[in-house]
Amino acid sequence: MSTYEVYEEAYKLLPKHVNPLVIVEDFIRQETKKREEYLRVLEHGVEVGTWPKHFYREFERTLFERLEFIGVDTDREALLQTPPYVVPIRCSVTNLAFPSNTFDLEYSVCVLPWIEKDMRYSAVKETERTLKFGGKAMFITPAHSHLKEELVEFPKYTKKAVNIDELRKKFFIGKEKLEKYALEAGMQISELYEVEEVVPVTPKQRIALLYSDTLAPSQDHDESAFKEYLSELASPSRINFCVVVVEK
Ligand SMILES: C[S@@+](CC[C@H](N)C(=O)[O-])C[C@H]1O[C@@H](n2cnc3c(N)ncnc32)[C@H](O)[C@@H]1O
Repeated sequence: MSTYEVYEEAYKLLPKHVNPLVIVEDFIRQETKKREEYLRVLEHGVEVGTWPKHFYREFERTLFERLEFIGVDTDREALLQTPPYVVPIRCSVTNLAFPSNTFDLEYSVCVLPWIEKDMRYSAVKETERTLKFGGKAMFITPAHSHLKEELVEFPKYTKKAVNIDELRKKFFIGKEKLEKYALEAGMQISELYEVEEVVPVTPKQRIALLYSDTLAPSQDHDESAFKEYLSELASPSRINFCVVVVEK
């Protein structure tokens, strides 16, 4: 099983209300119901297409056929692995290679923390520019209370030195920040909330969640040591992320 399959499976095992896959899935379903025409959907930081693959399996064919899925990422290798029903485009979310007013829906899961701090607002502003009027977007960012404990052990399992304080600062994007970006970009906020819950997770789920939140794009770690360590950690784990839904 690949790293990606591990966390794709793990997301599905989480309770629905703390499962980002379900939150984005509901968002697309609801918005699709409201509109009759063909929908253009953009995923930010699509990586290998884990989410579209999930939707392709979960959505009724009639619903999926009404979507045109475009995925952007800066990682060329990852984009080569996207499935055929995703149009992969290599570009940065801070400078989207699309005309203004192109998409009905955009969503971004765990991508803003990977962008340099001073460029994060650009990613939100680009969303506003490329959304159609009446279009909606969703950003999910890890808030990561749980990383505080887990990152203490982190350097042992990465191949290069990691500054824990820097990592915490880098990965924490809370509700207030999301709200500020959205309002400054001129969008209306229709939902803004933080999900924080302790849920039982298996070692496999924990590996998956940590991979997807911190390690997946860099692969900069000693995988076997990391897995061994994680398998010893006790459940449950804290799931903690922020969600904002905005409208143009
Ligand atoms: C933690 S992964 C999340 C992947 C996927 N969204 C998910 O939830 O499983 C972050 C992804 O964002 C991509 N990324 C980072 N900076 C980016 C940028 N400026 N523009 C587009 N993609 C970017 C990385 O290459 C990586 O694929």
